[in-house]
Amino acid sequence: MSFQIALNFEDGITRFVECRPDETVAEASYKARVNIPLDCRDGACGTCKAFCESGRYDGGDHIDEALTDDEAAEGYCLPCQMTPHSDLVLRVPSSSAAAKTAAATFGATLAEVRHHSPSTVEFTLDVDERDGLDFLPGQYVTIAVPGTGHSRAYSMSSGPAQRRLSFLVRTVPGGVMSGYLTDRARVGDRLEFTGPMGAFYLRQLTRPALLLAGGTGLAPLLSMLERMARQPASHPVHLLYGVTRDQDLVHLDALADYAEVIPSFTFDHCVADPASGARNKGFVTGLIDPPALHDGDVDIYLCGPPAMVDAVRGHIASLGVLPAGFHYERFTPAAVRETAEAA
Ligand code: FES
Repeated sequence: MSFQIALNFEDGITRFVECRPDETVAEASYKARVNIPLDCRDGACGTCKAFCESGRYDGGDHIDEALTDDEAAEGYCLPCQMTPHSDLVLRVPSSSAAAKTAAATFGATLAEVRHHSPSTVEFTLDVDERDGLDFLPGQYVTIAVPGTGHSRAYSMSSGPAQRRLSFLVRTVPGGVMSGYLTDRARVGDRLEFTGPMGAFYLRQLTRPALLLAGGTGLAPLLSMLERMARQPASHPVHLLYGVTRDQDLVHLDALADYAEVIPSFTFDHCVADPASGARNKGFVTGLIDPPALHDGDVDIYLCGPPAMVDAVRGHIASLGVLPAGFHYERFTPAAVRETAEAA
Protein backbone atom coordinates (compact mmCIF):
# COMPACT_ATOMS: atom_id res chain seq x y z
CA MET A 1 0.00 0.00 0.00
CA SER A 2 1.23 3.46 -0.78
CA PHE A 3 -0.11 6.99 -1.00
CA GLN A 4 0.30 9.54 -3.75
CA ILE A 5 2.27 12.66 -2.82
CA ALA A 6 1.93 15.69 -5.10
CA LEU A 7 4.99 17.96 -4.82
CA ASN A 8 4.12 21.38 -6.20
CA PHE A 9 7.23 23.48 -6.81
CA GLU A 10 7.32 27.26 -6.76
CA ASP A 11 7.64 27.40 -10.55
CA GLY A 12 4.28 25.63 -10.80
CA ILE A 13 5.65 22.27 -11.90
CA THR A 14 4.16 19.32 -10.06
CA ARG A 15 5.70 15.89 -9.59
CA PHE A 16 3.88 12.94 -8.08
CA VAL A 17 5.67 10.28 -6.02
CA GLU A 18 4.44 7.12 -4.33
CA CYS A 19 5.07 6.95 -0.58
CA ARG A 20 4.47 4.02 1.77
CA PRO A 21 2.93 4.75 5.18
CA ASP A 22 6.19 3.65 6.85
CA GLU A 23 8.55 5.89 4.89
CA THR A 24 9.04 9.63 4.99
CA VAL A 25 8.04 11.88 2.13
CA ALA A 26 11.71 12.81 1.71
CA GLU A 27 12.73 9.15 1.34
CA ALA A 28 10.00 8.53 -1.22
CA SER A 29 10.96 11.67 -3.14
CA TYR A 30 14.60 10.66 -3.34
CA LYS A 31 13.66 7.19 -4.54
CA ALA A 32 11.72 8.90 -7.33
CA ARG A 33 14.79 11.07 -8.10
CA VAL A 34 13.13 14.25 -6.93
CA ASN A 35 15.69 16.05 -4.79
CA ILE A 36 13.60 18.23 -2.51
CA PRO A 37 15.78 20.50 -0.31
CA LEU A 38 17.28 18.59 2.62
CA ASP A 39 20.06 19.09 5.11
CA CYS A 40 19.95 17.40 8.52
CA ARG A 41 17.22 14.86 7.65
CA ASP A 42 16.58 14.79 11.36
CA GLY A 43 13.93 17.42 12.04
CA ALA A 44 16.52 19.86 13.36
CA CYS A 45 17.31 22.43 10.66
CA GLY A 46 14.04 23.30 8.90
CA THR A 47 15.67 23.21 5.44
CA CYS A 48 13.00 20.86 4.09
CA LYS A 49 10.05 22.84 5.47
CA ALA A 50 7.06 22.66 3.13
CA PHE A 51 3.36 23.43 3.35
CA CYS A 52 0.74 20.69 3.27
CA GLU A 53 -2.26 21.80 1.21
CA SER A 54 -4.29 18.67 1.82
CA GLY A 55 -4.14 15.22 3.36
CA ARG A 56 -3.40 13.60 6.70
CA TYR A 57 0.02 12.68 8.04
CA ASP A 58 2.18 12.06 11.11
CA GLY A 59 4.52 15.03 11.42
CA GLY A 60 7.25 12.98 13.13
CA ASP A 61 9.83 14.29 15.59
CA HIS A 62 11.36 17.72 15.30
CA ILE A 63 12.61 20.59 17.37
CA ASP A 64 11.12 24.07 17.58
CA GLU A 65 14.00 25.61 15.62
CA ALA A 66 12.95 23.51 12.64
CA LEU A 67 9.18 23.82 12.98
CA THR A 68 7.20 25.57 15.70
CA ASP A 69 3.89 24.28 17.00
CA ASP A 70 2.16 27.29 15.47
CA GLU A 71 3.66 26.54 12.07
CA ALA A 72 2.65 22.89 12.36
CA ALA A 73 -0.89 23.95 13.26
CA GLU A 74 -0.99 26.17 10.16
CA GLY A 75 -0.04 23.25 7.92
CA TYR A 76 3.74 23.59 7.62
CA CYS A 77 5.55 20.28 7.74
CA LEU A 78 8.96 18.63 7.50
CA PRO A 79 9.12 16.08 4.65
CA CYS A 80 12.22 14.49 6.22
CA GLN A 81 10.07 13.50 9.20
CA MET A 82 6.50 13.20 7.97
CA THR A 83 4.85 9.93 7.03
CA PRO A 84 1.54 9.93 5.14
CA HIS A 85 -1.82 8.69 6.36
CA SER A 86 -3.48 9.62 3.06
CA ASP A 87 -2.63 11.16 -0.31
CA LEU A 88 -0.93 14.53 0.23
CA VAL A 89 -0.42 17.75 -1.69
CA LEU A 90 2.71 19.64 -0.61
CA ARG A 91 3.86 23.09 -1.67
CA VAL A 92 7.65 22.90 -1.84
CA PRO A 93 9.49 26.26 -1.55
CA SER A 94 12.06 25.62 -4.25
CA SER A 95 12.11 25.46 -8.02
CA SER A 96 11.76 22.15 -9.81
CA ALA A 97 15.22 22.74 -11.31
CA ALA A 98 16.72 23.03 -7.82
CA ALA A 99 15.12 19.68 -7.05
CA LYS A 100 16.69 18.31 -10.24
CA THR A 101 13.35 17.49 -11.76
CA ALA A 102 11.13 18.89 -14.49
CA ALA A 103 7.69 18.54 -16.01
CA ALA A 104 7.24 15.43 -18.14
CA THR A 105 6.33 15.39 -21.83
CA PHE A 106 3.55 13.12 -23.09
CA GLY A 107 2.41 12.02 -26.53
CA ALA A 108 -1.31 11.98 -27.30
CA THR A 109 -3.80 11.45 -30.10
CA LEU A 110 -6.57 13.91 -30.90
CA ALA A 111 -9.76 11.98 -30.12
CA GLU A 112 -12.47 14.60 -30.62
CA VAL A 113 -13.01 18.21 -31.65
CA ARG A 114 -16.33 19.77 -30.76
CA HIS A 115 -17.25 23.24 -31.96
CA HIS A 116 -19.73 24.43 -29.34
CA SER A 117 -20.17 27.77 -31.12
CA PRO A 118 -18.13 30.20 -33.25
CA SER A 119 -16.43 31.32 -30.02
CA THR A 120 -15.67 28.09 -28.18
CA VAL A 121 -14.09 24.78 -29.16
CA GLU A 122 -13.53 21.75 -26.99
CA PHE A 123 -11.02 19.08 -27.82
CA THR A 124 -10.15 15.76 -26.25
CA LEU A 125 -6.91 13.79 -26.15
CA ASP A 126 -6.10 10.12 -25.69
CA VAL A 127 -2.79 10.13 -23.80
CA ASP A 128 -0.23 7.43 -24.72
CA GLU A 129 1.00 6.75 -21.20
CA ARG A 130 -2.12 7.79 -19.32
CA ASP A 131 -1.19 5.86 -16.18
CA GLY A 132 2.01 7.89 -15.96
CA LEU A 133 0.13 11.19 -15.90
CA ASP A 134 -1.29 12.55 -12.66
CA PHE A 135 -2.52 16.05 -12.09
CA LEU A 136 -4.42 18.07 -9.54
CA PRO A 137 -7.87 19.30 -10.55
CA GLY A 138 -7.44 22.83 -11.87
CA GLN A 139 -3.92 22.42 -13.28
CA TYR A 140 -2.85 22.97 -16.87
CA VAL A 141 -0.49 21.55 -19.47
CA THR A 142 1.42 23.24 -22.28
CA ILE A 143 0.43 21.84 -25.67
CA ALA A 144 2.62 22.04 -28.77
CA VAL A 145 0.24 23.17 -31.51
CA PRO A 146 0.88 20.89 -34.52
CA GLY A 147 2.68 22.45 -37.44
CA THR A 148 3.33 25.80 -35.79
CA GLY A 149 6.40 25.58 -33.55
CA HIS A 150 4.30 27.29 -30.84
CA SER A 151 2.89 26.03 -27.56
CA ARG A 152 -0.16 27.14 -25.64
CA ALA A 153 -1.23 26.46 -22.07
CA TYR A 154 -4.69 25.02 -21.34
CA SER A 155 -6.32 23.79 -18.16
CA MET A 156 -7.86 20.36 -18.20
CA SER A 157 -11.65 20.45 -17.99
CA SER A 158 -11.63 16.71 -17.30
CA GLY A 159 -10.90 15.31 -13.86
CA PRO A 160 -7.72 13.45 -12.86
CA ALA A 161 -9.61 10.13 -12.73
CA GLN A 162 -10.96 10.40 -16.29
CA ARG A 163 -8.97 8.57 -18.96
CA ARG A 164 -9.26 11.23 -21.65
CA LEU A 165 -8.07 14.82 -21.23
CA SER A 166 -10.45 17.56 -22.35
CA PHE A 167 -9.83 21.26 -22.90
CA LEU A 168 -11.90 24.35 -23.68
CA VAL A 169 -10.53 26.93 -26.10
CA ARG A 170 -11.90 30.37 -26.81
CA THR A 171 -11.36 30.96 -30.51
CA VAL A 172 -9.67 34.22 -31.40
CA PRO A 173 -8.90 35.55 -34.90
CA GLY A 174 -5.31 34.67 -35.78
CA GLY A 175 -4.92 32.51 -32.67
CA VAL A 176 -2.42 29.69 -33.01
CA MET A 177 -4.56 27.01 -31.40
CA SER A 178 -7.77 28.53 -32.79
CA GLY A 179 -6.40 28.28 -36.32
CA TYR A 180 -5.34 24.69 -35.83
CA LEU A 181 -8.63 23.56 -34.31
CA THR A 182 -10.76 25.43 -36.83
CA ASP A 183 -8.89 24.74 -40.05
CA ARG A 184 -6.58 21.77 -39.79
CA ALA A 185 -7.32 19.50 -36.83
CA ARG A 186 -8.27 15.94 -37.68
CA VAL A 187 -9.16 13.16 -35.29
CA GLY A 188 -6.06 10.97 -35.08
CA ASP A 189 -3.57 13.87 -35.21
CA ARG A 190 -0.56 13.38 -32.96
CA LEU A 191 0.21 16.03 -30.31
CA GLU A 192 2.68 16.51 -27.50
CA PHE A 193 2.16 18.30 -24.22
CA THR A 194 4.20 19.05 -21.11
CA GLY A 195 2.99 19.20 -17.53
CA PRO A 196 1.16 19.20 -15.26
CA MET A 197 1.71 22.73 -14.02
CA GLY A 198 0.12 25.47 -11.98
CA ALA A 199 -0.77 26.36 -8.43
CA PHE A 200 -4.45 26.87 -9.26
CA TYR A 201 -5.75 23.56 -8.00
CA LEU A 202 -8.41 22.38 -5.63
CA ARG A 203 -7.31 22.28 -2.00
CA GLN A 204 -8.89 20.14 0.66
CA LEU A 205 -12.39 21.44 1.27
CA THR A 206 -12.47 22.51 4.89
CA ARG A 207 -14.99 25.36 4.52
CA PRO A 208 -17.52 26.64 1.94
CA ALA A 209 -16.15 27.30 -1.53
CA LEU A 210 -17.09 29.91 -4.11
CA LEU A 211 -16.03 29.12 -7.68
CA LEU A 212 -16.03 31.96 -10.22
CA ALA A 213 -15.51 31.45 -13.96
CA GLY A 214 -15.21 33.88 -16.82
CA GLY A 215 -15.64 32.32 -20.29
CA THR A 216 -13.42 29.30 -20.85
CA GLY A 217 -12.10 29.87 -17.32
CA LEU A 218 -14.83 27.35 -16.59
CA ALA A 219 -12.46 24.54 -17.65
CA PRO A 220 -10.38 24.13 -14.46
CA LEU A 221 -13.50 24.51 -12.34
CA LEU A 222 -15.15 21.63 -14.24
CA SER A 223 -12.10 19.54 -13.37
CA MET A 224 -12.54 20.47 -9.70
CA LEU A 225 -16.23 19.56 -9.83
CA GLU A 226 -15.36 16.20 -11.36
CA ARG A 227 -13.15 15.52 -8.35
CA MET A 228 -15.89 16.68 -5.96
CA ALA A 229 -18.36 14.36 -7.67
CA ARG A 230 -16.12 11.43 -6.73
CA GLN A 231 -15.36 12.70 -3.24
CA PRO A 232 -18.56 14.55 -2.30
CA ALA A 233 -18.03 17.72 -0.29
CA SER A 234 -19.92 18.33 2.92
CA HIS A 235 -19.42 22.10 2.67
CA PRO A 236 -21.51 24.31 0.37
CA VAL A 237 -19.94 24.86 -3.05
CA HIS A 238 -21.39 27.62 -5.23
CA LEU A 239 -20.29 28.39 -8.79
CA LEU A 240 -20.89 31.62 -10.71
CA TYR A 241 -20.21 31.54 -14.44
CA GLY A 242 -20.15 34.67 -16.57
CA VAL A 243 -19.72 35.05 -20.33
CA THR A 244 -19.93 37.89 -22.84
CA ARG A 245 -22.56 36.53 -25.25
CA ASP A 246 -25.07 33.70 -25.24
CA GLN A 247 -22.96 31.76 -27.73
CA ASP A 248 -20.11 31.65 -25.20
CA LEU A 249 -22.14 29.58 -22.73
CA VAL A 250 -21.05 25.95 -22.61
CA HIS A 251 -21.64 22.97 -20.38
CA LEU A 252 -24.64 24.30 -18.49
CA ASP A 253 -25.94 20.74 -18.81
CA ALA A 254 -22.76 19.43 -17.17
CA LEU A 255 -23.17 21.91 -14.31
CA ALA A 256 -26.76 20.75 -13.86
CA ASP A 257 -25.54 17.14 -13.77
CA TYR A 258 -22.97 18.03 -11.09
CA ALA A 259 -25.73 19.71 -9.07
CA GLU A 260 -27.51 16.34 -9.14
CA VAL A 261 -24.56 14.29 -7.88
CA ILE A 262 -22.91 16.80 -5.52
CA PRO A 263 -25.60 17.54 -2.92
CA SER A 264 -23.91 20.70 -1.63
CA PHE A 265 -23.32 22.18 -5.11
CA THR A 266 -25.32 25.05 -6.62
CA PHE A 267 -24.58 27.34 -9.55
CA ASP A 268 -25.80 30.34 -11.49
CA HIS A 269 -24.72 32.07 -14.67
CA CYS A 270 -24.94 35.45 -16.36
CA VAL A 271 -24.33 36.99 -19.76
CA ALA A 272 -22.96 40.50 -20.23
CA ASP A 273 -24.72 41.17 -23.55
CA PRO A 274 -27.88 43.27 -22.82
CA ALA A 275 -29.59 41.46 -25.71
CA SER A 276 -29.03 38.07 -24.10
CA GLY A 277 -31.95 35.79 -23.33
CA ALA A 278 -30.31 34.78 -20.04
CA ARG A 279 -32.16 35.38 -16.78
CA ASN A 280 -29.15 37.26 -15.36
CA LYS A 281 -27.63 39.93 -17.54
CA GLY A 282 -24.40 41.60 -16.48
CA PHE A 283 -21.20 40.47 -14.84
CA VAL A 284 -20.46 37.83 -12.21
CA THR A 285 -19.78 40.58 -9.69
CA GLY A 286 -23.53 41.28 -9.80
CA LEU A 287 -24.23 37.68 -8.72
CA ILE A 288 -21.94 37.66 -5.69
CA ASP A 289 -24.30 37.76 -2.74
CA PRO A 290 -22.62 38.67 0.54
CA PRO A 291 -24.00 35.44 2.16
CA ALA A 292 -22.01 33.44 -0.41
CA LEU A 293 -18.85 34.91 1.14
CA HIS A 294 -19.71 33.45 4.57
CA ASP A 295 -18.13 36.47 6.34
CA GLY A 296 -14.77 35.44 4.91
CA ASP A 297 -14.95 31.78 5.95
CA VAL A 298 -14.74 30.76 2.31
CA ASP A 299 -12.22 29.48 -0.22
CA ILE A 300 -12.53 31.33 -3.52
CA TYR A 301 -11.35 29.85 -6.82
CA LEU A 302 -11.45 32.39 -9.63
CA CYS A 303 -10.43 31.84 -13.26
CA GLY A 304 -10.97 34.07 -16.26
CA PRO A 305 -9.50 36.80 -18.43
CA PRO A 306 -7.48 39.49 -16.60
CA ALA A 307 -10.20 42.16 -16.63
CA MET A 308 -12.74 39.78 -15.10
CA VAL A 309 -10.32 38.49 -12.45
CA ASP A 310 -9.31 42.02 -11.48
CA ALA A 311 -12.94 43.18 -11.35
CA VAL A 312 -13.92 40.31 -9.06
CA ARG A 313 -10.95 40.85 -6.75
CA GLY A 314 -11.76 44.57 -6.53
CA HIS A 315 -15.44 43.85 -5.89
CA ILE A 316 -14.75 41.42 -3.07
CA ALA A 317 -12.28 43.84 -1.50
CA SER A 318 -14.90 46.59 -1.73
CA LEU A 319 -17.28 44.40 0.27
CA GLY A 320 -14.76 44.44 3.11
CA VAL A 321 -14.43 40.65 3.11
CA LEU A 322 -11.06 38.92 3.46
CA PRO A 323 -11.56 35.33 2.24
CA ALA A 324 -9.73 32.60 4.16
CA GLY A 325 -8.41 31.27 0.84
CA PHE A 326 -8.28 33.13 -2.47
CA HIS A 327 -6.81 31.33 -5.49
CA TYR A 328 -7.03 32.83 -8.93
CA GLU A 329 -5.73 32.33 -12.43
CA ARG A 330 -5.74 34.84 -15.27
CA PHE A 331 -5.39 33.76 -18.86
CA THR A 332 -4.71 35.87 -21.91
CA PRO A 333 -5.90 35.21 -25.49
CA ALA A 334 -2.50 33.56 -26.10
CA ALA A 335 -3.43 31.17 -23.26
CA VAL A 336 -0.62 32.30 -21.02
CA ARG A 337 -1.51 31.58 -17.42
CA GLU A 338 -0.76 33.59 -14.33
CA THR A 339 -1.65 31.84 -11.14
CA ALA A 340 -1.66 33.53 -7.79
CA GLU A 341 -2.99 33.36 -4.32
CA ALA A 342 -4.31 36.13 -2.17
CA ALA A 343 -5.14 35.12 1.33
FE1 FES B 1 16.49 19.35 8.40
FE2 FES B 1 14.20 18.29 7.39
S1 FES B 1 16.17 18.38 6.49
S2 FES B 1 14.49 19.44 9.24
